[in-house]
Amino acid sequence: MLGRDLVRAAELANHEVTATAHLECDVTDRASVDRAVLDARPDAVVNCAAYTDVDGAERDPEAAMRVNADGARNVAAAAADQDASVLYVSTDYVFDGHKDGLYVESDEPNPLSGYGASKLAGEVETAVANPQHYIVRSSWLFGTAGRNFVETMLDLGGRESQVVVVRDQVGSPTYTAHLAEGLVRLIGTEAFGLHHMAAGGQCSWYDFAVAIFDRAGVDCRVLSTTTDELGRPAPRPEYSALGTQYDDAIHLPDWTDGLDDYLAERG
Ligand SMILES: NC(=O)c1ccc[n+]([C@@H]2O[C@H](COP(=O)([O-])OP(=O)(O)OC[C@H]3O[C@@H](n4cnc5c(N)ncnc54)[C@H](OP(=O)(O)O)[C@@H]3O)[C@@H](O)[C@H]2O)c1
Repeated sequence: MLGRDLVRAAELANHEVTATAHLECDVTDRASVDRAVLDARPDAVVNCAAYTDVDGAERDPEAAMRVNADGARNVAAAAADQDASVLYVSTDYVFDGHKDGLYVESDEPNPLSGYGASKLAGEVETAVANPQHYIVRSSWLFGTAGRNFVETMLDLGGRESQVVVVRDQVGSPTYTAHLAEGLVRLIGTEAFGLHHMAAGGQCSWYDFAVAIFDRAGVDCRVLSTTTDELGRPAPRPEYSALGTQYDDAIHLPDWTDGLDDYLAERG
């Protein structure tokens, strides 16, 4: 989902882009990553490959680690061998959600889930393997190239008169086209290190669902529930909105603007 928007944003910024799909380059296979990087001879490698099934990672944490941590090491090391920088996309789920206020880069991560732990391990692997690294944490992604919460709600809203959505998880839903533009700007700098980059503002999944139906003109009632009642396998942070401690950080538009742009793009 993010990868597609990233290709488009990079091409719009006049970068020469080589995009590889899972079948062409398996990040868990170092030789396959080396070949892809050697063929492309890039200045920068952006790793958008990930095991993103949060509940699946709870059942099979090793599978998540193989892609999100071992894979991250392979990509970062292959880039380092060609003197290229690497960008690893990480997540707000590295935090436990107990902070009262926006999470900034210096806040201590403490992942609650196997997915969060695998992404934190990927951050470390990336940083160790390549000194020219950007680690960018974002959150609650939605984009036109993948299944996402907005599509799930629109599907349900078209069929049902009411939906039930959790109200006790708060974050920043981020439109992948906006994030992609921000990532392209970042790789044009030498601001290596850890960055938070998510949409402005914050809301609960419940608020997000209400805004989706409101803006899309769908007549569907939203009822609220709690994380406990929902009983998903993986724990999620109660609060994981991301902020930044850097004055010169790249700021993304508000999540409501992201939602408007998404709905306009999908038509
Ligand atoms: N989605 C979110 O809400 C969210 C929030 C914060 C951060 N992030 C992070 O943002 C990044 C992009 O997320 P996304 O939502 O765009 O993910 P996505 O749509 O699930 O895409 C992940 C891609 O990685 C590929 N992949 C999986 N295993 C691979 C492997 N071993 N080798 C090569 N490719 C592999 C998948 O291909 P197949 O489908 O063919 O396996 C898929 O194309 C990820 O790092 C994710 O952790 C996501």
